[in-house]
Amino acid sequence: MKIFISGVIPQIGVKMLQEEGYIVEEWNHSQPITLDELIDKCKDADGYINVMSPVSGKFLEACSQLKVISTFSVGFNHIDIPTSTRLGIPVGNTPDVLSNATADTAFLLMLNVSRKAFFNYRRIIEGNWKPGFLSVDYLGQELNGKTLGIFGMGRIGFKMAEKCKGAYGMKVIYHNRHKQEQAEKEIGATYVSFEELLNQADVLSIHAPLSEENKGIFNDSTLKKMKNTSILINTARGAMVNEKDLIQALQSGQIWGAGLDVTDPEPMKADNPLLQMENVAITPHIGSATVEARNAMSVLCAKNIIAGIKGEKLPCVVNP
Ligand code: DGY
Repeated sequence: MKIFISGVIPQIGVKMLQEEGYIVEEWNHSQPITLDELIDKCKDADGYINVMSPVSGKFLEACSQLKVISTFSVGFNHIDIPTSTRLGIPVGNTPDVLSNATADTAFLLMLNVSRKAFFNYRRIIEGNWKPGFLSVDYLGQELNGKTLGIFGMGRIGFKMAEKCKGAYGMKVIYHNRHKQEQAEKEIGATYVSFEELLNQADVLSIHAPLSEENKGIFNDSTLKKMKNTSILINTARGAMVNEKDLIQALQSGQIWGAGLDVTDPEPMKADNPLLQMENVAITPHIGSATVEARNAMSVLCAKNIIAGIKGEKLPCVVNP
């Protein structure tokens, strides 16, 4: 059996696959794999671990002998699920094991933006920490008792809400496709309409999976409904936020700040105006980048692949 991996992942999962007697090949080049290269590598493979490269219908048709695919991520918006389902290729993902790490990243961005930490750090390294104590410049905002709005109360949204409630006693409101009983019971979260979420949140943190319906949902008209003092946090997918409109909302003072771990496109260009803004903190899609989460993702991918090869139900399957 041959398993192809379109990137380098923690070796713990690779070893599990090798122990099953599979031949494992990783793409260890600095350039992301192209579609033609991917087809070439996968056309005689039995399993494929996808490290955030697009899995298009064209690829799936060309490699329809694949018995299983597992993405090294919880998000699967980069995979043509209807085609994989039609071709009978199960697709697995890695939920749960990265929820804590990703919520930590959202929390880190929230705190950074609220105290302008990245910007103030830059002042030091650029030689702009001037003598004298500035009593009215670079002021942040406190988070105690503020209202946290969660857009998408899944596993990661829940963790973020739990952290914010515990650390700052934040009041939690959320908007989701369905009401989430666990969040209501355990965190006292209140379900609100999208409109109410925009109007009431002091910090609005995005945790929904990207879909056709929510692409660009944070745009000029919705950002205008947010408080002037509010902070937008995105650790989900960049395409949910219209970047041009976000820049405008920040420049005009329509919203107060933004913390982004995801952008559209990625990587973000180094001359992006967002990088120069005082109330903006940006990290390069590191949501799940902890040793613990990435090792667990590697193990889960291996388990998905092993189950798929054996014709068993994957531990985490995304096909309907
Ligand atoms: C995920 O798991 O979807 C992350 O965004 C990719 O690292």
